[in-house]
Amino acid sequence: MIEVKIGVIHESNLPTPSSRLLIEAIRKLGHESYYMPFSYISVRIDKRHLVLKIGSKPFDIDAGLLRSIGFAPSFEQFMGRLALFMGIEEEGIYLMNSIRGLLNARNKFMTLLKLFKAGIPVPKALLTENLAEAYRLTKQWDRVVVKPLIGSRGYGQVLVDNADLGYRIFRTCLQFKQFIFLEEYLNKPSRDIRLFVIGERVSAAMYRYAPPDAWKTNIAQGGKAEPMKPSPELEELAVKTAEILELDYAGVDVLEGSDGYYVLEANGSPGFEGLMRVTGINIPCEIVSYLVEKAKR
Ligand SMILES: Nc1ncnc2c1ncn2[C@@H]1O[C@H](COP(=O)(O)OP(=O)(O)O)[C@@H](O)[C@H]1O
Ligand SMILES: [Mg+2]
Repeated sequence: MIEVKIGVIHESNLPTPSSRLLIEAIRKLGHESYYMPFSYISVRIDKRHLVLKIGSKPFDIDAGLLRSIGFAPSFEQFMGRLALFMGIEEEGIYLMNSIRGLLNARNKFMTLLKLFKAGIPVPKALLTENLAEAYRLTKQWDRVVVKPLIGSRGYGQVLVDNADLGYRIFRTCLQFKQFIFLEEYLNKPSRDIRLFVIGERVSAAMYRYAPPDAWKTNIAQGGKAEPMKPSPELEELAVKTAEILELDYAGVDVLEGSDGYYVLEANGSPGFEGLMRVTGINIPCEIVSYLVEKAKR
């Protein structure tokens, strides 16, 4: 067996629990693991070639598990990280997920746009800085979900069924230099589906049930999980979603609408502890095995 050197790349200076599970999986599968916090990485343009380093040492890995772009507090830092990871990719080091995939998934409207253009059913959505248009559509759509453009775990999402309340929220968003992003609220059973895609298949899936009288199903919002086996149709939808967004692995959220499935989002930096607990599937091992295959090609 060829041993592959894999870096787990993350914003945090100390490995998070999910990074630790990935490191464990790398070692268990007989490969070499390195933990690489963003703040230690450098890319240098020299006379003839690029020089990548981790601290003062050479950046000697075959592939990287890039867990996310992190929460860059400034535009400058965000652009810096973008260039840093692109430099790594330029050197032929396979990053999973790729920087492009992470960007597609991080921006929730971009996700919907790409999926919509590829013919995947998504909720109607509006992105604007125009207060009047947002107000008008809230009236027209009756119930809307106001979402942070970049967010997770259901945090900051508000269900609005009163256009004037919406107006106050939109205006506040604009005052705090946020975009207005809203979706029509889709009627659904009290649950939705999280599918964990790795490569060309769904490796694990679960129903997530919203708490009584709640509409968000996120586990972080008190949702309860139950393992499920997706139909071939659902599996194909999830795999296609990840492929369109250029994600090697992704947590795809699917809602069962009255007229079929809708994709709500794809998480390019998905957690897997909850899903592992519910399904018993060793997701980190499957992620690492897939990366090893990719890195060997
Ligand atoms: N348009 C919508 N209609 C109905 N329910 C929604 C809609 N958007 C989000 N939800 C509910 O809120 C949850 C969180 O939304 P999601 O888009 O997945 O964002 P997050 O990144 O915060 O998980 C979803 O899992 C779903 O249960
Ligand atoms: Mg979600």
